[in-house]
Amino acid sequence: DAVFYRVYVPSFTDSDGDGIGDLPGIRDRLGYLELLGVDALCLSPICPSPMVDHGYDVTDPRDVDRRWGSLPAFDALLTEAHAHGLRLVVDLVPHHTSEGRDWFRAALASAPGSSERARYQFRPGRGDGGAAPPNDWPSMFGGPAWTREPVPVSDDADGDDGRREWYLHLFSSAQPDLDWTHADVRADLETTLRFWLERGVDGVRIDVAHGLCPPADLPDLPGDPRLDQDAVHDVHRTIRATVDDYTGRMAVGAVAVAGPERLARYVRPDELHLAVDVVLAHAPFDADAVRKVIERCLTAVGAVGAPATWMLADHDVVRTVSRYGGGPAGLARARAMALVQLALPGPAFVYNGDELGLPDGAVPVEARRDLVWTHAEDSRDGSRVPLPWDDTLPGLGFTAGSSWLPIPDAFTALCAATQLEDTGSTLSLYRQALELRRSHAGFRGGEPEWFDGPLGCFAFRRAGTSLVCVLNASPAPVPLPAGDILLVSGPLEYGLLPPDTAAWL
Ligand code: NOJ
Repeated sequence: DAVFYRVYVPSFTDSDGDGIGDLPGIRDRLGYLELLGVDALCLSPICPSPMVDHGYDVTDPRDVDRRWGSLPAFDALLTEAHAHGLRLVVDLVPHHTSEGRDWFRAALASAPGSSERARYQFRPGRGDGGAAPPNDWPSMFGGPAWTREPVPVSDDADGDDGRREWYLHLFSSAQPDLDWTHADVRADLETTLRFWLERGVDGVRIDVAHGLCPPADLPDLPGDPRLDQDAVHDVHRTIRATVDDYTGRMAVGAVAVAGPERLARYVRPDELHLAVDVVLAHAPFDADAVRKVIERCLTAVGAVGAPATWMLADHDVVRTVSRYGGGPAGLARARAMALVQLALPGPAFVYNGDELGLPDGAVPVEARRDLVWTHAEDSRDGSRVPLPWDDTLPGLGFTAGSSWLPIPDAFTALCAATQLEDTGSTLSLYRQALELRRSHAGFRGGEPEWFDGPLGCFAFRRAGTSLVCVLNASPAPVPLPAGDILLVSGPLEYGLLPPDTAAWL
């Protein structure tokens, strides 16, 4: 039932003035996070990376990128997080590496069919001279999921292109996919898991946990054979066994599959402890739609005896305030949904900055940094804009230098320091909600028991307790059910719960 606070490391706090967040910056904010009342931090990837995908392209899974700090800086953060009563989770990227990893460079330098190539998904091309990709898979970032290896300098003269293979990348061409049937690949993750667990991390996030094992023959679409193949569960059983060698640790998978029923297969008793996805984040602000998602998730994971993990936003989606319409209505809805999320049984992931009610930042085209996200109209930069801490400091307290993504003027009014002093702020709402979630017995109750309410609204009681959560997503104020008010996401109107508002009773 922990509340995980997801730190997008580049945008959290910069301690050394280079304009990008770092580990000592996170360390400086541990007091804030303790005050906020979360239980754990889940960091975005911190390993050495050329930052094509901001850390999701790793050259060495067992070190820390110098932009963020060093292994000693990591150890210091971990020790101090523990001293603040906060657990710490690191993000591992076992699906692919950076093109800069020694393995991939060795693969390119070796001949087709070599064992160096076998760690990745190299294939000959189709058609004349192998000029067409081996299959029709698209990349998640747009364009084909295949790139043809470059012409080796030594081969320029003979012009024999036919030998040039293609490599698979479900994301950008700078992120070649690993072949999970290769023993080195499996052994390497085990070494990496033990490396971080031995250092004392409380958990690991497994990125793209559903994508590790496409079928060996890489068949054409349709049916999307790229993801969610049965073989992947064997990998998760190995991960679980390794993590279980250490006491009190956990593994959470980032799982994007066809629905909660498929997701539940990742949290069977001998697989990952938790799986997080975007189903709640993708639900519109509509009481029926949200209720359906909640019920479906609970039924699916309940069938395998696992908790549902709830997430409203992360660094890949538009922030809640903007997603729910922006402006005052978007903010009111985001606050209401925070109370819904935090009233549900099971862990919650809160994306950094959501506790400040941040909207997506408008990032001008020339300042965009998410260059791999080529198929979307907008990049993912909007939800990755650095956090505003203190309007009396340069760079709003994020950096003394020049911020890697521009911080919009609108963030000046949303600084954490100001919100800490304002009892009506979104930060104060989160603090009160998290305090109640910790202290009130209702939050240790059972699954939601739903009861009928006005159209466009829902209410549920946590089974076996008197704790009720009400959401009004209708356009009119509605009466509240009987009970003492514990917390409301916005002011009542003459005793009625206004539109875009939630209450805990
Ligand atoms: C999932 C991460 O959340 C996303 O940010 C990244 O681009 C992809 N994995 C590829 O690594």
